[in-house]
Amino acid sequence: MYMNFEDQLRDFSRQVKFKANFGELSPFKNIVISGMGGSGIAGSIFSEIYDKAPVQVVSDYGLPSYADRDTLFVGISYSGNTEETVAATKEAMRRGCQVRLITSGGELSELGAETVVVPKGYQPRAALGYLIKPFLSTFITSDEAQYDRISRLLSDMDTNNSNEKDVAGKIFGRRSIPYVLGYPPFRWVAYRWKTQFNENSKILAFSAYFPELDHNDAIPFKHTYGKENFSFLVFGGSTGQIEKRVRFTSEITSTEYITIQPKGDTVLEKLFYLVHAGDYVSYHLGNMRKIDPEDVSVLTELKERLKS
Ligand code: F6R
Repeated sequence: MYMNFEDQLRDFSRQVKFKANFGELSPFKNIVISGMGGSGIAGSIFSEIYDKAPVQVVSDYGLPSYADRDTLFVGISYSGNTEETVAATKEAMRRGCQVRLITSGGELSELGAETVVVPKGYQPRAALGYLIKPFLSTFITSDEAQYDRISRLLSDMDTNNSNEKDVAGKIFGRRSIPYVLGYPPFRWVAYRWKTQFNENSKILAFSAYFPELDHNDAIPFKHTYGKENFSFLVFGGSTGQIEKRVRFTSEITSTEYITIQPKGDTVLEKLFYLVHAGDYVSYHLGNMRKIDPEDVSVLTELKERLKS
């Protein structure tokens, strides 16, 4: 059944209740995750909140040389047909890694590895709940009450996303390029915003994160030409030195931010809240630009041409 794109976004609150995990795992020394774009981001976001073993996310065709029998390899491709992820998965199987896959079908589902099958009918980037939940249930928390709370936060935003629409309106009103500033553990959420602006709003966008950005990006925040062409978005809720950095960077470089304030009590709640806020801001911005937020025909054409 075809779901329009807004309904796909609204489905996030249901997706976080998806009951799936990687099942029984043999001991491993490191985790290598392969995935591109809207699929790979699930692994990247997970990698930032998990610190019990080294995790490397590979957005490429191959695997790091250390990947072997002691590696848990997770291949994520919503379609199951992304050539980089398929190639990396075949290589992981050849090397004897412990393999788990997350996909809705395609070539990946035919490789004979243990697979979490997610529902079809979504844009990969609108299936993040399905793609990330196996990681969270297996490695972060299997307490479903957590996910119920997250789900309520997300559906409140589905009911009222006027704040997100206002943010989109500010970016659009100035015909500006978003520059999203995150901080740990929301660095990859900032990157997710960037990619959502790319795919849903069809605009160039940038992301960076504190404290690292103070060592590079912050310098042109003061001196660059063309600064009037950017909208700087910062995630609120930081504390301690990071909070000071956010404030001092703005003062020293005369940079005004649009602050995105996360709701929620736990890191996971805030993380999902921020992700969904980015979904809506980029979606509204796409509509304001009168382009179809769902359309990714450039990418589809590219994938087709690469097959020949
Ligand atoms: C499209 C999207 C893309 C895809 C990427 C990889 O909505 O988000 O970034 O995620 O092209 O494709 P899959 O996810 O099918 O492996």
